[in-house]
Amino acid sequence: MSVNNTGVQFYVNGKVATAKADDADMALVDYLHERENLTGTKFCCGVGVCRACTVAVRNQKDAPLEKALSCSTPLSAINGMHVYTVESLGNQDQLAPLQDAFLKHFSFQCGYCTSGFLMAATALLEHLAVTKIEERELDNMIEKWIGGNICRCTGYIRYIAAIREVALPVVRHTAALAATPVSVKLAGGAING
Ligand code: FES
Ligand code: FES
Repeated sequence: MSVNNTGVQFYVNGKVATAKADDADMALVDYLHERENLTGTKFCCGVGVCRACTVAVRNQKDAPLEKALSCSTPLSAINGMHVYTVESLGNQDQLAPLQDAFLKHFSFQCGYCTSGFLMAATALLEHLAVTKIEERELDNMIEKWIGGNICRCTGYIRYIAAIREVALPVVRHTAALAATPVSVKLAGGAING
């Protein structure tokens, strides 16, 4: 999909979004705030340092989630892509497991950085669901995915504890799946590999 006279088309939290071609240079965070009224994604440094503005993106529907900094991502760069903001997670009746864990561990105070941590960790969980790692590698993996997110209020340790609590069962589940013999069906029967 390319930017043309009809504008930039992408998806926000599963719904089609269309921006005018004139807005192709607009930062994604501005689009989310001003055109979609999705204000959970925060703007802070504006220059790709603090990661408060992190959202999760897929290149296409079935591609793995990745992180993106919405302050420095123009709409032209997400043409055809799927964007997920913090509003795509739970709601007041049913929080996402990560949101529950952040509350349980008192991970945040003012909360300004929280949606960035949530979306980076959400992408991490999806990565762990398809990538087998050893349990002892989990802390390094968490550091890799949220280590650059800045929080001015808390000591990070509470964020890490919450993410670890949700991620560890995912790591174990993925390892168990990988250990399950795969049944390969052949014309004359089945073999286990
Ligand atoms: S607002 Fe700081 S990295 Fe985007
Ligand atoms: S909770 Fe205030 S900046 Fe992180």
